[in-house]
Amino acid sequence: MLRFPLLLAATALAAATPAFAQTITGSGVAPSQAQNSQARPIQFAAGAATKQDSALAIIMSSAKLPADALDPTLRPAVEAAIAAAKFEGKAGSTLSLRGIGGHPRILLVGSAGSERAALRHRNAGGQAAQELKDEAATLAIAGDLAADTAAEVALGFALGQYRFDRYQTTGKTPRPAQAVTIHSRESASATSAFDGRYRALAEGVTLSRDLATEPANVIYPESFVERVQAAFAGAANVRVEVLDEAAMRRLNMGTLLGVGQGSRRPPRLLLVEYRGAGAGAPLALVGKGITFDSGGISIKPALGMWEMKSDMSGAASVIGAALSLAKSRAPVNVVAVAALAENMPGGNAQRPGDVVRTYSGKTIEMINADAEGRLVLADANEYTIATRKPAALVNIATLTGAIVNALDDEYAGLFARDDKLGSTLLAAGEASGEPLWRMPLHKNYAETMKSDIADIKNAAEGKRPGAGLGAHFIGYFVDAATPWAHLDIAGVNWADSADPLTPKGASGFGVRLLDELARNWKP
Ligand code: BES
Ligand code: MN
Ligand code: ZN
Repeated sequence: MLRFPLLLAATALAAATPAFAQTITGSGVAPSQAQNSQARPIQFAAGAATKQDSALAIIMSSAKLPADALDPTLRPAVEAAIAAAKFEGKAGSTLSLRGIGGHPRILLVGSAGSERAALRHRNAGGQAAQELKDEAATLAIAGDLAADTAAEVALGFALGQYRFDRYQTTGKTPRPAQAVTIHSRESASATSAFDGRYRALAEGVTLSRDLATEPANVIYPESFVERVQAAFAGAANVRVEVLDEAAMRRLNMGTLLGVGQGSRRPPRLLLVEYRGAGAGAPLALVGKGITFDSGGISIKPALGMWEMKSDMSGAASVIGAALSLAKSRAPVNVVAVAALAENMPGGNAQRPGDVVRTYSGKTIEMINADAEGRLVLADANEYTIATRKPAALVNIATLTGAIVNALDDEYAGLFARDDKLGSTLLAAGEASGEPLWRMPLHKNYAETMKSDIADIKNAAEGKRPGAGLGAHFIGYFVDAATPWAHLDIAGVNWADSADPLTPKGASGFGVRLLDELARNWKP
C-alpha cells in the first residue's frame, strides 16, 4: 500500500535535484556567480592634466619633462626629482614621486628605446596600469601624445589592468575603479582610434584570459559555449553553430568523441562565424579547446597538472580574436572554431592502441592519450574545411611540451606548409607584439608518424622532434589545396611572471596576432 506514494516521492525528488548536476558540478560549490572587480573605464581629454586630485602618470621619451604634462607650478619640483634620480626616460624604467602638489602620486614612465614606437607606448600604458593599480583615485596619463600614441597607451592600460579576482573573498581590498583619463593634443581622434579598434581588441584579450584562467570545474565544453554565446549576444553579422555529442555521432567525429569519452562532461564543437565582408571565403581560425588535460589514461604527473586548465587557450584566443573583429565591425570574414573536450581517465576512456576514425573517414591509431590536442583538431579541421571552404586555415594550440623547451616564453612556434601564409603570420607577429619563430615541417615526419594498422598514429615514442611531429599530424587533416599553418602556443599562453601588458597568468596570446592577421588579410 505504501509503495506507490514512496515511489512518487522518490521520482519527484530525483526531478528536483538532477543527479547530473550534483555529481558533476558539485552544485553550489563552484562559486561561478562571483564577479571580477571593475576595470577602470578609459577616456581621453585635451590639455594638460592639471586636476591635482588625480594620480598622474607622465610618459617620458627622454629626461625632459614634456610640455603641457602637468600644472606649470609643479614643473620645478618634478624636474629636480628627475635630475636627482638621474631618470633618463628609458623604456621599462619608472620613477615614483609623492608629495608634489596635490597629486597623491606622480609616476614617470619611460618610453625611450629602439623597439617600435607603438609597442613602446603600449608598454608604457601597461606599466602605468600595473604600478598604479592600487592607487585609490582617478588617474590621469599625460605626455607628448598624438592620437595614435595615445591610443597605444590606452590599449596598454586596458591590457595591463587585467585582473582575475572573482574568487578571492578575504584579505583583499577591492581594486579602485575610478576612471583613467589620457590627455592628448588630439583627443578626439585618439578617442575614435581607440573606439574603432582597440577597445574591442582589449575585450577579446580579456575574454580569452578569463576563459583560460577559469578552473576546469567552471569552464568545461558546455559552459565554454555558454560564455561565448553571452559574449557575442547582439553582435551584428555573427552566426554561432554548436555541435553536441549526438550531432558528432551522426557526423562520425571519432576524435572529438574519443577524447571526450573519458569525461562526464561531453565534448562540443563550436563555430563562430563573423561576416564583415559579405560573401567570400572566410579565414578559418581553429583552436584546441581541451578544458582540462589530465593526460587521460596516459596520465600526467601531478606537478603542474593544474596548469592544464588552460589547455583551451588556443580556442579561447580564436574566440577572442573573433570578438575583437566583430565588435569593431572589421571588414573581414572569419570563422573561429573551438574544438572542445575534457581529457580524463575513466572506465570509458579511450585506451592507448585504440583506433578511431575521423569525420572524413581517415583512421588513427591512438598511441598516447596525452597527445589529445592534435586528435580533436583533426575532426575540427576536416569539418571546417568541408562546411566553410576557407581561404586559409590557421590552427592554434597548446600542443607540446617540446615547443616550450625550444622557444620558452619568448616565441610561439610557427609551422607553415604555405610560405606566403607563413611570412604573413611572421609579419603579423612582429606588428602585434606576439612574435613567432618558424619551425620546420620535414618530410621525414610523415614516415615517423606512420601506423602499422591505421593511416597515421598520434604519437611517436622516444625522444623525437615532438612539436614538429604534432604539427605534421594536424596538417594531415588539412587538404593540400588549403593554405595552412599551425601555431604551437604551449608556454606563451601562460605568463609565469608579469610583463607590462600581461599580469602573471593567462596571456591571451594569439588574440592580437590573429586580429592583426585577419585585418590585413588579402585573399
Ligand atoms: N597540453 C599538452 C602540452 C603542454 C605541455 C601544454 C606543457 C602546456 C605546457 C599536450 O596535450 C601534451 O600532453 N603533449 C604531449 C604530447 C606527447 C604525448 C606526444 C607532450 O608534449 O608531452
Ligand atoms: Mn596532453
Ligand atoms: Zn593537451
